[in-house]
Amino acid sequence: METTLIILKPDAVQRGLMGQIISRFEDKGLAIVGMKMMTISQALAGTHYGDHKGKPFYDGLVGFMTSSPVCVLAIQGVGAIAICRKMMGATFGSNADAGTIRGDYGSSNSFNLIHGSDSPEAAAKEIGLFFKDGDIQIIDRAIGGWVYDMSSGTPE
Ligand code: RTP
Ligand code: MG
Repeated sequence: METTLIILKPDAVQRGLMGQIISRFEDKGLAIVGMKMMTISQALAGTHYGDHKGKPFYDGLVGFMTSSPVCVLAIQGVGAIAICRKMMGATFGSNADAGTIRGDYGSSNSFNLIHGSDSPEAAAKEIGLFFKDGDIQIIDRAIGGWVYDMSSGTPE
């Protein structure tokens, strides 16, 4: 099981797309194990996107991420990190494939609706940045045995 950090960016919240985007993850069988609304501070945005510091788009990115509230989610499932990245689509809405979140809901390159962790290391770091101990729920989902084949004892 993996847990990944997803942020529904200010444009997704302002455009009223939270429900539709969260539904996609639930429909896929992934579990929402953490969720909150917040306004990201300059400091938190800088830490979260620290790898991009110094790049030409960095100041605009931090400005955008701190401009209006976001919805932060922790999403769990087998292979959840890669699955969520695939569901998000390519970085820029202008060339993200149809069928992906960025491809279906946006055409801007800067306002691209959603962030998702890109590796297990990034996911662990980002979940620690946005959630406190105890915020992430342990959910014994009634549907778990129908989302995954549990016949071997591990989810397949
Ligand atoms: P994210 O981190 O938000 O999930 O996006 P990503 O992995 O698909 O893309 P990344 O390379 O990590 O870039 C982070 C965010 O910076 C903005 N960006 N602008 N103008 C540009 O060339 C450019 N490149 C990246 C995007 O908002 C991207 O989501
Ligand atoms: Mg990234």
